[in-house]
Amino acid sequence: MTLDGRVDRRKRIAMKDGWQSKNYVGKPSFLTFVKFEIGNNTQRRQAGRNLMRSIAAMKNTNKFLEVLYSYRIPKYFVYQLLRSRAKDLAKSLSPYLSKDDLILDIGSDSCTVPEILMEQDLKVLPLDIQNYSIVDAISPTIYDGSRMPFKDNQFDVSLILFVLHHSYDPTKLLVEAKRVSRKILIFEDIITSSAHGYLTAALDSLMNLEFFNQPHSNKRDNEWQTLFDDLGLKVLNREYNNYGVVIKHALYLLEK
Ligand SMILES: C[S@@+](CC[C@H](N)C(=O)[O-])C[C@H]1O[C@@H](n2cnc3c(N)ncnc32)[C@H](O)[C@@H]1O
Repeated sequence: MTLDGRVDRRKRIAMKDGWQSKNYVGKPSFLTFVKFEIGNNTQRRQAGRNLMRSIAAMKNTNKFLEVLYSYRIPKYFVYQLLRSRAKDLAKSLSPYLSKDDLILDIGSDSCTVPEILMEQDLKVLPLDIQNYSIVDAISPTIYDGSRMPFKDNQFDVSLILFVLHHSYDPTKLLVEAKRVSRKILIFEDIITSSAHGYLTAALDSLMNLEFFNQPHSNKRDNEWQTLFDDLGLKVLNREYNNYGVVIKHALYLLEK
């Protein structure tokens, strides 16, 4: 909040989102936010406790928004960042997707990738084990992480974008993806050594603000390809690129 009493625009949007989202029943009070900005230390500490209590009181919580609010990160800012990332991802995916395809996005997380693909007239269904959507108009189908609620071969393509290393059992996930779709398009952070694995995991935790209970099931390129082979998945295409100096991305197009 500025000294003349005007609330910063981004913060206003974040507060409005927090108040109006259909996912929330508990509402952080306006004073809670104001005290963060202009209060003395005691008021700030009390405001912090109030905010945490409000967050704890939210029912049907959207896990992603819960994390954003707990770190006091404005939703609008993160949404724009994730949309820009999703646009880049969609460019890499577009050679492999067609408007006739029925696409399943497994581990849709913020749902910004499905949002961008839908804007390109692609038919996408987001699926996740928790609702992390930051896109008001899109809610993923939620399942138990075991059996996907779909028929065999219901989809033309399954997207598994940076999900396998977040899964405790990537093999099981791939078996289910193979059951419900004809092709699978994977993006993974591959590793080249144990040390590189630790660095990749640390950066991944930082970028996702997830520091506990993460499986970090990252594998080397040849380990993924052996697993695909074992599962009867044929690699039709693969691409590699570096993201910064540490992260190495691999894209695999698989067919059964
Ligand atoms: C890093 S995020 C994926 C990001 C998203 N695909 C994207 O590129 O924007 C990992 C996601 O995988 C989901 N996930 C983990 N295990 C899963 C499983 N067995 N089935 C489906 N989603 C899973 C998590 O809930 C989380 O939303």
